[in-house]
Amino acid sequence: MNNAIKIAPSVLSADFAAMGAEVERLEQCGADLIHCDVMDGTFVPKITFGCDMIAAIRRHTMLPLDVHLMVVNPQNQVRLFAEAGANSITVHREACGEDLKNVLRLIKNCGAHCGVVVNPDTSLREVYDCLELCDTLLIMSVYPGLGGQRFIDRVLPKVEEARRIFDGQGIEKDIEIDGGINEENVRRIKDAGANVIVTGNTVFKSDDMKRTIYNLRTL
Ligand code: DX5
Ligand code: ZN
Repeated sequence: MNNAIKIAPSVLSADFAAMGAEVERLEQCGADLIHCDVMDGTFVPKITFGCDMIAAIRRHTMLPLDVHLMVVNPQNQVRLFAEAGANSITVHREACGEDLKNVLRLIKNCGAHCGVVVNPDTSLREVYDCLELCDTLLIMSVYPGLGGQRFIDRVLPKVEEARRIFDGQGIEKDIEIDGGINEENVRRIKDAGANVIVTGNTVFKSDDMKRTIYNLRTL
């Protein structure tokens, strides 16, 4: 199945002091989604921002806001982020325990698309039973918590397996991949079956953001 390729720049690499302008620049340069990395200092060491930042970003763009929750107890945050304007909310398998399906249902009930995230060492087996509920499967290609890390190649078979599962069921779901993606490796990642490409450093460190986003989409 040929899901459309979407480029989702992560504002983790943006200038936080100029977030509105940064988001407007991403939109002008052809981004499809804005990926917002929410870190709580517990699930991962650093703290980034909360739902008020999402509300602030919302005022600067019409693009869908893709909120990646790297937080413990995400169920306590979901409604706040949905009300702030998140269009999709993804939660980590590793943060949800037995509650995962309920958290996914809660996201849906709040009116957002829902997704589950798996860390590099988490196998797809651990989310088989909730794939049907999800709109998106987000596969981490770095350990969460930091931008600018190196892509972990051994996650590619997981992307292929996920695409086989979705194609086998004849359902069009997004497979999103996050971390270490650049113009050199993006082709392999798409070939494996990912269609939503998150990228922080590659887009923000570029001298020509528009060209880089175009390349990531078309290479
Ligand atoms: C890492 C974040 C990623 C990260 C991607 O925890 O989820 O979204 O910002 O950034 P790059 O593309 O720089 O690896
Ligand atoms: Zn992310």
